[in-house]
Amino acid sequence: MSDLLRVGILASTNGSILPSIFSAALPGVEYCVFVTNKKACGAREKAKRFGVPDYYINPEGMSREEWDAEVVKILQEYNVDLVLLVGFMRILSPVFIQSFSGRILNVHPSLLPKFAGGMNADVHRAVLEAGETETGSTIHFVTEEVDGGPIFLQEKVDIVPDETVSSLKEKVQDVERVLFPEAIQKFQQERSHTENDEMVNRD
Ligand code: GAR
Repeated sequence: MSDLLRVGILASTNGSILPSIFSAALPGVEYCVFVTNKKACGAREKAKRFGVPDYYINPEGMSREEWDAEVVKILQEYNVDLVLLVGFMRILSPVFIQSFSGRILNVHPSLLPKFAGGMNADVHRAVLEAGETETGSTIHFVTEEVDGGPIFLQEKVDIVPDETVSSLKEKVQDVERVLFPEAIQKFQQERSHTENDEMVNRD
């Protein structure tokens, strides 16, 4: 295993927080490949702008497993160590999750386990309709249980009385912009500790 952490990104929407992730300039981290299921999404443009090789896999006529297998092949060709789901609006199949077990991080726009299962603005709408006074952002490992994998990092956001879906989305994404780079760094540190422990045990 090399010291370099090779990161692959999957996204489907605007990729609003991607520039902050790419610009965080974390030492020893390389964003080596981007894959999307949406041909013309903002996230893909941002990947291009930051010089990350981008792939569009057209999901039409493919089963979920077939699409996932194609993506796994690309990620493996790039020797990806960690997969980030950054506004990725598909549920991954077991074949994908098993290929990168313990190495897939998703950002979900609520304080999981609250408001699991929804996506993007729908989550913020549900939070407001429930009359919550706080929400937040969660970075969690992806398992076969949707939004149910172990929580890696979480941060709260206060909700003000005249909050709207878009103001809340903006506030939560401001947190994501800092939290995701932190999560990548934490993953990298934990990985190198595990590696060192393994070396000590071998000696
Ligand atoms: C992400 O930033 C995240 O909050 C949420 O969607 C946003 C994408 O917004 N992710 C999910 O709901 C994942 N299930 P964007 O289109 O502005 O980039």
